[in-house]
Amino acid sequence: MHITPLTGTIGAEVHGIDLNRLDAAAEEQLEEAFARHLVLVFRDQCMTPADLMALTNRFGGPGDTPYLQGLPDYPDVVPVIKEASEKSQHSFGAGWHTDFTFQERPPARTLLYAVDTPPSGGDTLYANQYAAFEALSEGMKSSLLGLKAVHSAVRSYGPKATLKDHMENMTITNDTDEPDIQLHPVIRKNPVTGKPALWVNPTYTIRFEDMTEQESNTLLDYLNALIVYPGHCCRVRWQPGTLTMWDNRATQHCATSDYRGYRREMWRTTTAGEIPSAYSKDC
Ligand code: SIN
Repeated sequence: MHITPLTGTIGAEVHGIDLNRLDAAAEEQLEEAFARHLVLVFRDQCMTPADLMALTNRFGGPGDTPYLQGLPDYPDVVPVIKEASEKSQHSFGAGWHTDFTFQERPPARTLLYAVDTPPSGGDTLYANQYAAFEALSEGMKSSLLGLKAVHSAVRSYGPKATLKDHMENMTITNDTDEPDIQLHPVIRKNPVTGKPALWVNPTYTIRFEDMTEQESNTLLDYLNALIVYPGHCCRVRWQPGTLTMWDNRATQHCATSDYRGYRREMWRTTTAGEIPSAYSKDC
């Protein structure tokens, strides 16, 4: 196995590995690389939905996937599809976010496998939330430690959300009532590395606990912009057969909508996660 970092901050390509034939030693090496790089890219993999589920099971088994319809025989494998003929250019996931942080136990990882890709475009960007935490001043770190934020699916899957109108070939169900909210720590401790991540995102983090949206917006905007500062990011170009696995406990990601007139199909799974723990200087 050969690991090549994509940037100095986040992401690595892993060469010389067939994900359908992982042994325990390779899995251990992968886990070390995953903890260090947060986003691992594997090229030239040959996966069926059953293979993707088998891999997902190796990494902790599927999380709960509301709102999105999976493949008929594999409900935990969500086809993320944009047909060449679609009227809207907007792609699924084309806004910075961390997957499903509106859940009590947001997914630990996401696995995304490219089935069909445009000749260019349709890349996915990733941002390192540990690096964002480290970039904060000591005063801001202290102010944020101990804070919680409200996460909700309302903007994407609430009664008035329009995401599904842009996805002609995906089955997305909106909530009929205002979705439940979850409170999560703003500075999250990764249970594997023990490291602190600045864990907010512009899609699902609505406000700080006990504050209004208006009061929260300026600081949230600042924090979200810091997270996606170019030096904290990497960009993954896809080809059919590319599989990328990322850590939702310390990254945001964003799909791009720049391939109008071309088809893109990905299969996506998420793995079960834990209730996020707050980082504290003493732990
Ligand atoms: C997602 O946000 O889950 C999908 C990202 C992508 O299709 O690139």
